[in-house]
Formats: sequence, C-alpha cells, structure tokens
Amino acid sequence: MKTKSLVFVLMTCFLFICGEVVGQMIKTPVPSRPAGQKDVLRLTADPIPTVRVAFIGLGMRGPGAVNRMAQIDGVEIVALCDLRQERVEAVNKNLVERFGKPKAKEFYGDAEIWRQVTALPNVDLIYIATDWLNHARMGVQAMKDGKHVAIEVPSALTMEEIWELIDTSEKTRKHCMQLENCVYDFFELTSLNMAQQGVFGEILHGEGAYIHGLQQFWGSYWNNWRMDFNRKHRGDVYPTHGLLPVALAMNIHRGDKMNYLVSMDTKAVGNPAYIKETTGEEVTDFRAGDHTMTMIRTEKGKTIMIQHDVTSPRPYSRMFQLSGTQGFANKYPMPGFALNAGTVDSEGVPNHEDLNAHRFVNEDTRKALMEKYKHPIAKGIEEKAKQVGGHGGMDFIMDYRMIYCLQNGLPLDMDVYDLAESCCLIPLTEISLDNNSAPVEIPDFTRGAWNKLTTVEFSE
Ligand SMILES: NC(=O)c1ccc[n+]([C@@H]2O[C@H](COP(=O)([O-])OP(=O)(O)OC[C@H]3O[C@@H](n4cnc5c(N)ncnc54)[C@H](O)[C@@H]3O)[C@@H](O)[C@H]2O)c1
Repeated sequence: MKTKSLVFVLMTCFLFICGEVVGQMIKTPVPSRPAGQKDVLRLTADPIPTVRVAFIGLGMRGPGAVNRMAQIDGVEIVALCDLRQERVEAVNKNLVERFGKPKAKEFYGDAEIWRQVTALPNVDLIYIATDWLNHARMGVQAMKDGKHVAIEVPSALTMEEIWELIDTSEKTRKHCMQLENCVYDFFELTSLNMAQQGVFGEILHGEGAYIHGLQQFWGSYWNNWRMDFNRKHRGDVYPTHGLLPVALAMNIHRGDKMNYLVSMDTKAVGNPAYIKETTGEEVTDFRAGDHTMTMIRTEKGKTIMIQHDVTSPRPYSRMFQLSGTQGFANKYPMPGFALNAGTVDSEGVPNHEDLNAHRFVNEDTRKALMEKYKHPIAKGIEEKAKQVGGHGGMDFIMDYRMIYCLQNGLPLDMDVYDLAESCCLIPLTEISLDNNSAPVEIPDFTRGAWNKLTTVEFSE
C-alpha cells in the first residue's frame, strides 16, 4: 500500500514538473495603468446638442447605420468614407439627401484616407463599420483626434488592440462603445429589466451564442475577409452577440467579473469543403472549427456558456438564456419565461409525475410579463424603432440611445470594458484550444474597479 502511494506521489510530481498536469490556468498578462490615468466607468462628457457624425465603412452594414442616424433628431451627417467611390456617392444621394440633410463631405479611394476623416475639426462621433481588421486602429486614432467612437462588432481582435482601446479611452476621456445591437433586442431588454428587479432571483448561469447558417451566404456576406480570418484563427471569432446581453444581465464588471474560460471545438468541415468546391484547393490548414463552445467561470461562482457555429444548417439562434434561483429566461428557439411556482403564474400545484410540471409560463402570462417589465428605454421609442428597423428595431434603439446619451452628457449604456470583455474571447479561446482546452485567465480590464458599480445602468 505504502509503495503504491509513493508511486502515485512520484508520478504526480513527474507530470507536474513536465507541465502535464491538466487544469493549470494559463495566465494572461495585464499591462499596468499609466500613472495619472483613471478608469472610464460611468464616463461622461459635455452635452452635445447636435451630434455631428462621420461614417467609415459603407459596405453591407454601414448604409443601414446612416439610414438610422438620418432619422434621429439632432444628428448631422458630416462625412462619409469608404474605399469605393460609388458606395460613398450612393449613400450620400440615397440616404443623407433623401432625408433632407445637407450633403456630407465625401472621402474615398485610398486605404488611409480615413485619417482625414478622424482629423476633421467639425466631428463629434466617428462611426466605424469596416471589416474587422481595421476596427481598433481606426478607433484608437479617432479618440486621439478628439472624437468619441462607436465601432462595429467585434471591435478588437487581439489583446494588444483591446488594451490600446482601453488605454486610449482612459487617457483621452473619450467614449469608446462597441455597436453591440443584440443588447437592445426587445426580449433581452425586458429580461435585463426583470433580472434587475430580481424576478429571476440570483442568476447563476447564462448562455449565449452566434449560431447563424452563413453557409447560405458564401461568396456574398461570407466574403473574403471573413473567410480569411476564420481560416487563420481557431476559436470563437464572433463572440459579442452571444456574450454581451448575458454579461450585462449578470453584472460583469459591475460587481462580478469573468475569471477564466475553457474552450472546445469541432474540426473544420464546412468552410474547407466550400473552398475545395469553388476553387479546387485542398485545404488542410483551416483553423476555425465548425462549432466552438466556451465556458466561463466568474468571481462570484457563476457560469456562462457561449457557442459559435456559422456553417451548419441550423436555425438562427443567440440562445440567450438566464438561469436564476427563482426563474429562467429563454429567447431561442421560442421566447419564454419559467418561474418558481407561485411567483407569477398560478397554474395549480405541479404533479411530480408530470415531467412538464416546471414548464414555461403560458402565452398570456409571458405577454403580461413582457408588458409589465418592458425596459424603460424601450417605452418611448419602440414604435419608431420598429418602423425604422434594423434587425427588427434593435439597431435603431442602439443608435438612438448613443445619440441621446451624447446629447445629454450621460454615460453611454456600454463602455470600453464591455467591448474588451466580449472581444477578448477571440484571442483567449484560441489559446485555450491550442492548449487542449486549458483554462485561460480572463483579465480584469477595469484594473481593480470591477466591484465599484453594482449593475448596468441605462441613464434616462
Ligand atoms: N451588428 C450586426 O448585427 C452586424 C451585422 C453585419 C455586420 N456587422 C459588422 O459590421 C462590419 C462591416 O461588415 P460588412 O458586412 O458591412 O462588411 P463589408 O465588407 O460589406 O463592408 C466593409 C466596408 O468597409 C470598407 N473599408 C474597408 N477598409 C476601408 C478603409 N481602409 N477605409 C475606408 N473604408 C474601408 C469597404 O470598402 C467596405 O465597403 C463588420 O465588423 C461586421 O462584423 C455587424
């Protein structure tokens, strides 16, 4: 018996020395905050009664943003920029002038011409909707040039880019918001309000995803830069839609923080097959697996699961589930709530033989809950949001809220740390996967201030 124990101890020591012990956390370095620099939690800036906006990137996504902004009072569209002249001219003619706004200044043709846009003196907000590779460098420069910046998802791809955006926002005291529209979808907003009112009790677990059958759009939406990035990078390369709505409801960097993640993926099948079919190339180096799962544990002992799959023929889903001690919210495939018996729904005493006893509340109760807990920010603008549109209205609410907060000198709904927490999954899941799903530390991007606030606050 004694010999057996000794062998076990020696084996364990051997494995430990050789670095074979599974479960050791891979540390993620945190650059120290430069002296004199402060966090940007609840950052405010002087009110801007008329917000002058310049847009960079007018491909598939950018024109929709111009269309929405053109329909918000107190917004001037002062500049439009894209590599392609025809895109700039078309947006100016069909969207800016159509709404009776003065023609915007046009910039096009050169890959660096955007620098003239961020340097313009008469601009308050730079709105970036280019491909992913350009996001962070443009955002950093915009803030250095004295502008607030809003950047499409994902706003940063590497830890270096993330820290540069944080440091620049902290140093310049300029807003840096990621344009994460899914936070503003009606079910998510209502669920956030319910979470904040305690309807779900203590939320212990959340799930989010980006499951979107983009193989239907190979060659169009799923264009070269998306394919190229996925080919070069293993991991969850598009995590923000899934994570941010859940992270906000779970008070991440507002009393809790994400401590580490573990990621696992399938092999890559769909994209290499498409490349072979269309070009004949036999691809053996495709990095992003068809399905990636990531689990996160928080400081306060909660868990979050995020999934990514854009090649399987599955119905669209962002999951969006909040699982609390008193209730449960679920967005996909069918929106619903489940609550502890007696809390809201009084459908009788559950029978333990009935496996459906703890089911979703009935449709009337669900509708009543949606009405009762409608988020205050959705109340006044719901109708206009649905009419202007943008993914059913959530894109309009996002833009409207950003302008409203800038006009009134209020903190924006999301800060640069929200951007950092959701984008860091891109590099950190890659590290986990390349190390046999090892746990990887998620840094505290606030550098010590994660416990200063208690919940996300959408200022009114
Ligand atoms: N939030 C959402 O629901 C949502 C939906 C779709 C796309 N997106 C995001 O929006 C962004 C843009 O996506 P897209 O589908 O419109 O891409 P796209 O390729 O259709 O458009 C990008 C545009 O940026 C321009 N561009 C590239 N480099 C430039 C430069 N140096 N200077 C000026 N212009 C430059 C291109 O010419 C192109 O017109 C991406 O980050 C994407 O992930 C978000």
